[in-house]
Amino acid sequence: MTEYGTGPPDQQDDTPGDTETSEVNYTDHEDPLIDASENSSSIFAQKKLLEIGHVPDVDRIVGRDDEIKQVAQRIKNLSHGTSPTSFIIYGKTGTGKTLVARHVATRVKQAGPRHDTRVATAYVDCSQDSTPTQAARSIVREINDPAETGFNIPITGMGMSQYLLRLWQTLDELYDSLLVILDEVDRLRGTGPEENDDDLLMQLSRAREAQKTEARIGIIGISNKISYRDRLNQRVKSSFGTNDFVFSPYDQDQLTRILEARRDAFRPDVLSDGVLPKTAALSSREHGDARRAVRILRHAGEVAEQDNIEKVTGDHVDQARQRAEVDRVAELVSSLPPHSRYILHALVALTEQNRPDEFKTALVHDVYEKVCDREAATSLSLSRFREILDELAFLELTEKKHTGGGKNQGAFNVHKLLYDADVIKSYLLNRTSIETRQGLID
Ligand SMILES: Nc1ncnc2c1ncn2[C@@H]1O[C@H](COP(=O)(O)OP(=O)(O)O)[C@@H](O)[C@H]1O
Ligand SMILES: [Mg+2]
Repeated sequence: MTEYGTGPPDQQDDTPGDTETSEVNYTDHEDPLIDASENSSSIFAQKKLLEIGHVPDVDRIVGRDDEIKQVAQRIKNLSHGTSPTSFIIYGKTGTGKTLVARHVATRVKQAGPRHDTRVATAYVDCSQDSTPTQAARSIVREINDPAETGFNIPITGMGMSQYLLRLWQTLDELYDSLLVILDEVDRLRGTGPEENDDDLLMQLSRAREAQKTEARIGIIGISNKISYRDRLNQRVKSSFGTNDFVFSPYDQDQLTRILEARRDAFRPDVLSDGVLPKTAALSSREHGDARRAVRILRHAGEVAEQDNIEKVTGDHVDQARQRAEVDRVAELVSSLPPHSRYILHALVALTEQNRPDEFKTALVHDVYEKVCDREAATSLSLSRFREILDELAFLELTEKKHTGGGKNQGAFNVHKLLYDADVIKSYLLNRTSIETRQGLID
């Protein structure tokens, strides 16, 4: 079925059956579906304010003055051409880590010329560029200006050391200092003995000392996992000093103010009373997550828009919350590494077959091994398996409970899914080749 709406006037043809051959031509005419801009929305005035990647102006940033100050304190030297302090920001999702880092980076870059310093900034999302080589490539591609340096950075065909060589060259030709933000830095994984997880951090933090470049380099690592620091090798750890800090979740009042500061994403009078506080309340239930709050608010507007209703109400917020939940699961599950997915798959299979919905570690492990067989993958050791179960619980996809068994039974852990098995399964199936659960459970 084709649904183009009505074509431009001179192309309209009332004869049914002719539609298949007549091509719709919108070169000279408005296409009502595509041309309609946001201005025609009866709900949103500036929807971009509610996009997660959008870095809002400073007056829309709420309750992070101290954090901004501290981050600025550590890296402001970059705009004076002296050495900055590298560090890691920890905190749960939606606590403003990315926002604060990007915001301060922009200010450091803008301050550079006032001190005769050429500052480069690079932002790498390590959940996308997840090997040290890809991350290095992304940095040099972001700061290189081929018109100035005379070279392009190819996307393929170069290894880590070549990208780094280009990076040092670019720095020495064009800049005095570089600020690198490595977001979700715990996702960086080397591909083998030739490439270790920490290679990039090591190279960047030692570059000047090792006389690879004259430029000063500051690194801000960002991670949701407080355990990340323990994983770093000693030399990298020492160049990060002891300056790490943790962003805490927002309280309900802060979330309300964050949303208030973006009220003008909507047309005047579109938001019913109580929509913002309700969104904030729903978002602070697990932990004060501003990402969730902004996302729910945007979805609520979209739901109202789809229903052609001119006001956003509490009902829309409820519907939007369900959607936000699904989005979150989709995002989390699709970015999991293979064995985490296999373990989730084991839990899905068990949940579908059993009541109650909690399972002992050993049972989950049995099913997990069967999933591995299917996937022709070698199953991980029990200790690594347990670690991944903990990570899944940390991500709030599953819950782990320590239970004191009955008489003559030792204490043990049980695990359960925190979302509908169906929902999780639908995202797993996009990624694994497993098509049915049959045969996984005897
Ligand atoms: N203090 C704040 N003031 C205004 N908006 C915020 C604040 N903290 C977070 N946000 C918004 O919430 C969303 C998630 O923030 P983000 O920085 O991506 O969180 P994190 O990186 O900690 O997961 C973004 O849209 C961001 O603009
Ligand atoms: Mg972030």
